[in-house]
Amino acid sequence: MKYDTENANVMKRKKIVAGNWKMNLNYAEAMALTDAIAGRMNENQETEVIVSPPFLFLHEVASQLKDKAMISVAAQNCSDKNSGAFTGEVSPPMIASIGVDYVIIGHSERRKYFYEDNLLLAEKVKGALRNSLLPVYCCGETLEQRNSGKHVNVVKQQIEEGLFHLDKMQMEECVIAYEPVWAIGTGVNATPQQAQEMHAMIRKLISGKYGEKTAESISILYGGSVTPANAEELFNCKDVDGGLVGGASLKADDFLRIIDAMEKVLSRE
Ligand code: PGA
Repeated sequence: MKYDTENANVMKRKKIVAGNWKMNLNYAEAMALTDAIAGRMNENQETEVIVSPPFLFLHEVASQLKDKAMISVAAQNCSDKNSGAFTGEVSPPMIASIGVDYVIIGHSERRKYFYEDNLLLAEKVKGALRNSLLPVYCCGETLEQRNSGKHVNVVKQQIEEGLFHLDKMQMEECVIAYEPVWAIGTGVNATPQQAQEMHAMIRKLISGKYGEKTAESISILYGGSVTPANAEELFNCKDVDGGLVGGASLKADDFLRIIDAMEKVLSRE
C-alpha cells in the first residue's frame, strides 16, 4: 500500500518481507523457489513480499511474478551510471526495463567486499530513483563499532551521507534496512530491544530532516539472522516494518513462515 502523506493518520506504512538470495542457487533452484513462493501467496495478504535473485535470473523471476499481487522483485545492486563502458556492470535503466521495482543498495557485503562507500551509494540511490526504481538502502554497524559504542554514529552517517541529498518526495520512495553486520549470517540476531532502539533512532533522524509525516511513512526493515523462530518478536517492535532475510529466504517453507509471522502481527494491529 502506498503511504498517503495527506492522510497520515489513516494510512499504514508498507510492511515488507524481503528475501535476499545473494550469490546462491542455480537456475533450476531459483525457478523452483520462485514457484514455491508464488504458489503460496495469499490474495488477502497485507505484507508486501520482495524476492531478490541474482542478476542472471532477475528477468525470468520478474516475468513469472508479473501478475501476482503483493510480490515484487528487487535487484541486489546496480551501477551508479546509466550506461557506458563499464564492463560487468548493470545499470538502473536496464533493471527497470525488465519490470523490476526495487534495488538493494549498500548491503554490508557490497560495502565490505566491493569497497562501496556512502558517497558512491548516494549516487546509486540517485540513479535508481531517476529510473523509477525504489531503493532498499542498507545500513548497520560492525561488532567492533557496536562494542566501542560507535553504532549510533556510524548508522547516522550512513543514512545522512547516503540518503540526505534527496528531496522529501524522493526520500518517501525509499525503504531502509537496518542490518547490523554482526548479525548477518551469524545466527545471532539483534534483540528486539536493540532493533527497536536503532529503528527509532533512524526514524527520528529522518523526522529531524524531513518532518514527522515523511519519517512515519518510511518502512524500516530489520535484517540479520531473521528466522521463523524470531521473526514475530522482531516484527512486533513499533518501528520494525519487516525484514530483509538472507539465509532463511532460500527455503520456501522458512520464508513463508516469516511472511506468516508478519501477517500475524498485522492481524493484531
Ligand atoms: P541473513 O542475511 O538473514 O542470512 O543474516 C541478511 C542479509 O544479509 O540481508
